[in-house]
Amino acid sequence: MQNLIKSRRHPLSPSEPGSRISRRLSQPGGTRTFEIRGIPIDVDVQGDGLPILFVHGFPLDRTMWRPLTGLLTGHYRICPDLRTVAHRLGDTAPRGMQEMADDLATLLDQLELDRAVICGLSMGGYLAFEMVRRYAERIRALVLCNTRAEADTDEGRANRDALAALARERGSAVVAEQMLPKLIARESLVGLPEVVEHVRAMIDRNNADGIADALIAMKHRPDSTPQLAQIAVPTLVITGDDDRIMPSEHSRRMAAAISGARFVVIPGSGHLSPLEQPVSVSRVLGEFLESIH
Ligand code: MLT
Repeated sequence: MQNLIKSRRHPLSPSEPGSRISRRLSQPGGTRTFEIRGIPIDVDVQGDGLPILFVHGFPLDRTMWRPLTGLLTGHYRICPDLRTVAHRLGDTAPRGMQEMADDLATLLDQLELDRAVICGLSMGGYLAFEMVRRYAERIRALVLCNTRAEADTDEGRANRDALAALARERGSAVVAEQMLPKLIARESLVGLPEVVEHVRAMIDRNNADGIADALIAMKHRPDSTPQLAQIAVPTLVITGDDDRIMPSEHSRRMAAAISGARFVVIPGSGHLSPLEQPVSVSRVLGEFLESIH
């Protein structure tokens, strides 16, 4: 395990108005729309070199990666929305974990990439496990951020149903109010207002049906613990010291079950480590990517 010092500056901070990163965040420039299995999906595409496919968490979108990917130059960074975010009114396409993993493999096909590093946060990690089950040959390495391998408990499934019903009845703003305090570290809630606003905007961008469908997809996901011992690619497990959704002890156990996995706890971070502490995460991730080149 690596010891890290918390970084002070955040790329979303207005105290850095002229920075290259701030400009990139407001004008991402590299957003392309791909027609993936009949659905238009927005994807941020930047740089070249080792391809890394970044898979966002729930109920967020591809922009959660921008503070990190703005710092991670020298790699081919690919950040798609998932089809639950791309949801349009009246769209009846299925939105289970398998469909979303198929979308990711199709995106790699369209980019003519045989393999990529798969970096998933939380629900994105569940999709990384789905890729391990279905597309192991497409994975160059794994980065599992703030995620877990276990399936939901009965209580967890009941909570998903309740939140899906709430989203359908009262919309995404109510979901944001309920989830925001748990997603971010207690000190980020006070000290990083730009991050709080970014998270709120992402949740708003998810419409209520997309949120409900993602919850149902996660509720039905299988237990991935049997896959851990089968993972044969270099793996990095990242968590936050104040992640109250996936406590760091869970992540530590998950990392221990993966042969040769590195395990890092990011100080000053809740459940959204790459968004809350992008400078620390970019260092850790940069070193890991360097080691697999
Ligand atoms: C996420 O961040 O993707 C969610 O917290 C995952 C979950 O609810 O299990």
